[in-house]
Amino acid sequence: MDLWPDMLTRLSLTFRSLPAVWDGLRIAFLADLHFKSRVLPLDRKVMKILCEEEPDVVILGGDNVNRSKDWPAAAEWFGRFPARLAKMAVPGNWEYKHKYKNSIMAFCDYSKKAGFVPLRNASFRLERDGVSLPFVGFDDVRKGIVDPVTACRGTGDDPFVIAVSHSPDILLHLPPEHFNLLLCGHTHGGQVRVPGYGAIVTSTKLGKRFEVGRYTLGGEHEVYVSRGIGTGDFHWRLFCPPEVVMITLRRGGRGDFGYQSPSI
Ligand SMILES: [Fe+2]
Repeated sequence: MDLWPDMLTRLSLTFRSLPAVWDGLRIAFLADLHFKSRVLPLDRKVMKILCEEEPDVVILGGDNVNRSKDWPAAAEWFGRFPARLAKMAVPGNWEYKHKYKNSIMAFCDYSKKAGFVPLRNASFRLERDGVSLPFVGFDDVRKGIVDPVTACRGTGDDPFVIAVSHSPDILLHLPPEHFNLLLCGHTHGGQVRVPGYGAIVTSTKLGKRFEVGRYTLGGEHEVYVSRGIGTGDFHWRLFCPPEVVMITLRRGGRGDFGYQSPSI
C-alpha cells in the first residue's frame, strides 16, 4: 500500500530569461528530509520517485538530517540519489541544532561524501555549450550567518539565477532582483493544516506570507516553498503530505506554466 500517493509535485516554470540550452532542465528539490539514522519507508518512497523521474539536478533544501550523528548513514543513502548532472545541498536550522560544535562541518563533509556540493553563501555553476547556469545557496537564516553579497558574487551578469535557501525568510535579506527562481523549505507547509486557513505554524518571520507552494513576485521572479518530506520532533502531518518537488525549467513567454499538486 502506498502511504504517500500524493507526494510528487510536478512544476513546470517558464521564463523568458532562461538560456535556450537549459530549456527542459529537470530539478528535484528535496527539503526537510530529516533523515533519522536508518532508511525508513518514506525514504524508500523518495528514492523510488527519484529513480523513476531521473532528474538532471538534485537539491537538498536543509534540515537534511535530524541529528549530526545521523550523517554517516544519511550520506550513504543520499549518495545513491540519482542525478544526471549535479547534486547540491544547503543547510537548515537542524544542521545547527545539535550539541556538537562541528555539526555544520558535518553537513559540509558528509554532503561532499554523498556527492553533493554544499552551498553556504556560495554558488555552483552548470556548464553547457559555453552557457553557465548558476545556483546560489545560502547559510541558514536563523542559525547561520547569511551573506548574500558573498553568495551572489559573480552572478550579476547572468541572465538566469536559481537560489536555494532553507527558509523563505531569506527574502528579508535577498531582493528578488538577485534570483529568477528561489527554492525554500522549512515551513513543512505548516505540517498540520486547517481547511480554509492553512498553516497554523510556519516558524518564519514572514508568517503565512510564504507558507507553502508557488509565489510569483512579478517579472521573472518565482518562489517555491516546499512542504518538505520528513518531520522533526513533532511527527504528525494533517492535510499536508510530504513532498518531492520536480521542476522542469522552460524557456518561453510568461503564463504557460503548469502546476500539478494535490490540493491541500
Ligand atoms: Fe524541517
